[in-house]
Amino acid sequence: MAVRTVGMVAAVVEPVDIDALVEQARQAVAAAGTTQEIREVAASVAGKKSALAEVGRSLGALEPERRKELGRKLHEARSSVEQMIEAKRAEITAEELARELAGSRLDLTEFIPGSVAAPRARGHLNLVSQTQAALEDVFVGMGFEVEEGPEIETDWYNFGALNIPPAHPARGMWDTFYLDLGLPESTLLRTHTSPVQIHLMERAVARGLLPIHAVMPGRCYRRDTPDARHLPVFHQIEGLVVDGGISFADLAGTIEVFTTAYFGPDIHSRLRPAYFPFTEPSAEFEVTCAICLGSGCQTCSQTGWIELGGCGMVDPAVFEAVGIDPDLWTGFAFGFGIDRCAQMRHQIADMRVLTDNDIRFLRQF
Ligand code: FA5
Repeated sequence: MAVRTVGMVAAVVEPVDIDALVEQARQAVAAAGTTQEIREVAASVAGKKSALAEVGRSLGALEPERRKELGRKLHEARSSVEQMIEAKRAEITAEELARELAGSRLDLTEFIPGSVAAPRARGHLNLVSQTQAALEDVFVGMGFEVEEGPEIETDWYNFGALNIPPAHPARGMWDTFYLDLGLPESTLLRTHTSPVQIHLMERAVARGLLPIHAVMPGRCYRRDTPDARHLPVFHQIEGLVVDGGISFADLAGTIEVFTTAYFGPDIHSRLRPAYFPFTEPSAEFEVTCAICLGSGCQTCSQTGWIELGGCGMVDPAVFEAVGIDPDLWTGFAFGFGIDRCAQMRHQIADMRVLTDNDIRFLRQF
């Protein structure tokens, strides 16, 4: 019996067999791909019914020395197999977790403004800015330079230098917002872009830069109640030419060229006598009503014409205020509403929509 037993056990527990069992276990563990599979492999290669467990049970029948030797080897084999199983189990758990996370991933980059994953609708320039740029282009094409001036002015630049002394009735129609800046002279938000004429002429005199051919766009402020054709904050573009031998014909020709260049060949200009303290003679310039093309409609009060701005020959009193000799130099000036131009060109019934910030209106342009 002992011989048979020893013989049987010897057949099972040969060292090479333990190595073979470990190798089989390694292959089975490597082939497992899910938690369920590694659980089943663990039971079959290291569980109570595994071949290794069987070997362990058979050790008792061996000679003490041999039992000790194989026992140590079996212990190493088991530890090695258990380590393999644990490593594989950890690997599978990590992979399954990663798969699960990928499935329910919340990509925060999608919420970063401008992200490629969720591009934001791009904005564009407001119609008034587009109109200003288009007007500048037309005038630059006619040889004008583009200049700018401050929106906060002193009384002198907005009125005094423009031949509008204190208590002059013209101050009434250009009433504005006054600022208390603690300065000796009263300061205000400019009511028109005409004060930029004064800045330019002063600078030209100081630096010997005459003649002048410039346009000056910018924001203006008035105590005007908003309505279909007025805003308390609006935009004008001023024009100034100071040169030798400039005549009223140059002014009229410049305005007509500008009008057809900007509004198209169907729209023309006309000048109507008017009064501005800083030009003499003065005119209001009107353009063909773009809505009825001159036949008369509600928008143009059946006249066929729409007023865009004022103009005239620079008054000698203004030249004298800035130190330009009116016997040597002549010039013309004009100023008109940029918002009014946008309104005419795009047939906008009520100017207030330009500042309402309604995206449905703005995205049309
Ligand atoms: C002036 O402002 C003069 N400085 C124009 C000028 C310049 C005359 C150079 C002579 C020489 P007026 O107040 O008329 O003029 O305004 C000119 C234009 O600005 C108007 O025709 C209109 O197009 C625009 N405008 C004036 N007030 C408003 C407003 N509240 N809202 C929108 N546009 C306005």
